[in-house]
Amino acid sequence: MAIERTLSIIKPDAVAKNVIGQIYSRFEGAGLKIVAARMTQLSREQAEGFYAAHKERGFFKDLVDFMVSGPVMIQALEGENAVAAHRDLMGATDPKKAEKGTIRADFADSIDANAVHGSDAVDAAKVEIAYFFPEAK
Ligand code: PPS
Repeated sequence: MAIERTLSIIKPDAVAKNVIGQIYSRFEGAGLKIVAARMTQLSREQAEGFYAAHKERGFFKDLVDFMVSGPVMIQALEGENAVAAHRDLMGATDPKKAEKGTIRADFADSIDANAVHGSDAVDAAKVEIAYFFPEAK
């Protein structure tokens, strides 16, 4: 088992629903340790930079508009197979397709407002953690 880090964002919809604590409990219950965290209001520039890989997608503007619509809670999580473990906790991108008991099934309303983001690979996690926590070692 590899100890990994992954980048997690609790998106504006979930922050507005006041479920940060419930989501953190799920991370901790799955053995994921919160090693860095910050609540912030993303600027448009920060959101566009973070999602740059998707800039040609039809949903890019909607995604950026949503991510700057309110505060987000950003954290780096560490644990065994953290990238996959965190993605299992999140569930499918579209909450309608997310398995029962996952964060998106329980807290997300739509594919546009889907409660959480998680890195999809270890290399991506390194880039994403450095983007928001440049001081993280
Ligand atoms: S892909 O092709 O696997 O990279 O795409 P996917 O992971 O499904 O989605 C990438 C991010 O875009 C968000 N997304 C959307 N936002 C708004 N509207 C629509 N229709 C839409 N479809 C996908 C999705 O939530 C992903 O955001 P993150 O923050 O990475 O979860």
